[in-house]
Amino acid sequence: MTTQSAADTKLRLSRGLGRVRSRTFSMTDALSNDDLHGQFNPLMSPLVWDMGHIANFEEYWVLRELGGQDAHDAERDAMYNPFDNPRWIRGDLPLLDRDEATGYLHSVRREVDLVLSRSDIIEGPQLAHGGYVFEMTIQHEAQHQETILQALNLREDLDPYDLSVARRLPTPRSVDERERVRIEGGPFDMGTNDRTSAYDNERPAHVVHVETFDIDRFPVTNARFVEFIKSEGYERPELWSKEGWSWRTSVDHHAPQGWHRDGEGGWTQVMLGTIRTLDPREPVIHISFWEAEAFAKYEGGRLPTEMEWEKAASTDPDSVRTRKYPWGDEPPTREHANIGQLGWGPAPVGSYPLGASARGVEQLLGDVYEWTSSRFLPYPGYSTFPYPEYSEVFFEDEEYRVLRGASWATAPSVARNTFRNWDYRQRRQILAGVRLAWDVQ
Ligand code: AVJ
Ligand code: FE
Repeated sequence: MTTQSAADTKLRLSRGLGRVRSRTFSMTDALSNDDLHGQFNPLMSPLVWDMGHIANFEEYWVLRELGGQDAHDAERDAMYNPFDNPRWIRGDLPLLDRDEATGYLHSVRREVDLVLSRSDIIEGPQLAHGGYVFEMTIQHEAQHQETILQALNLREDLDPYDLSVARRLPTPRSVDERERVRIEGGPFDMGTNDRTSAYDNERPAHVVHVETFDIDRFPVTNARFVEFIKSEGYERPELWSKEGWSWRTSVDHHAPQGWHRDGEGGWTQVMLGTIRTLDPREPVIHISFWEAEAFAKYEGGRLPTEMEWEKAASTDPDSVRTRKYPWGDEPPTREHANIGQLGWGPAPVGSYPLGASARGVEQLLGDVYEWTSSRFLPYPGYSTFPYPEYSEVFFEDEEYRVLRGASWATAPSVARNTFRNWDYRQRRQILAGVRLAWDVQ
């Protein structure tokens, strides 16, 4: 990195910090104090916890670990440590209120801007190399914005954002939603060696061999999922794995989260408090791993592994280079993917021909995260950086499954082919759907 490119990088990081922060405030400004302070579901934090946690994370990593400064207030560290305080007890903590959390965010950020301007991102400490710690801070805040949306999605009584006015999506072309793409077997380079914007769990790049398989060109649509429901998919134990069926019988779910019968044989969908007629062409969203798995069995396919997903997304049959995004290495535009809260929900399949991978697979990034059958495990040669609580502590829990891609809410800074998300198999409030893989004889 040259002095000039270091200056450019700092400018980009400072803009990125500003951009992600204004999104946080635009999301929280729309909410009342009660909606920010209350804990409406034990699965999710009071939203004001996320605000304080974002500031505390940034204070810890940038001001203290990199900048060498003293803690603002040691009690805050305890309160905003996610491991000391599981979500269901966060409503009982003496959290900073909205104004205090806002003040904390502002005061930390003023100092972070100074640390950024003074940091040597070429020869300084490893944390600062290439601007890593600032990039991590941006992505961390962006990921918590998705967490805030998950919490809001569990409330059907609250309509904070005007989704109909906000949708800014391209016009879809008409496509065969069941079309599949063949991915021939062989080795490819999975993961990345990038140390400036990727997380530790995406490293190192390593060769993986997969057998020939077919994959859906598009994420599974609502229309396909409606067929599963019409065929009594939710009531047929033979379609579910043993664990999946015990989940299914322990909860009273007979459709994805937010779906309601319209009384005339069709469906409506409530997302972020807004009720709409279900669009059959949109990717199905808000299903658990168990529902995805049963749906796959119903159609005779299966969930892809994360290796298969990444091969379909990042490889080019005519080159050994892998791509950062399905369409190449250029950062996303509005024509590539439905990310960054442009759509306030998934976009119909066929909306993003320019976002296709070299293999012709579409809408891999954006719309919905996609469940895979893979456990969340370290790649061979993995090493923790900069802290075990981002990834490492989750590896040993065999209940997690990896999700790939990005949702309609994922910030562009987080969306990339190598990004790995993970969650418990029963989770439905996450912005997840599925795309099937098919064995080839
Ligand atoms: C990668 C989405 C599983 O929210 O638990 C936020 C991201 N890590 N703060 C999570 C994260 C630390 C993480 N996920
Ligand atoms: Fe966090």
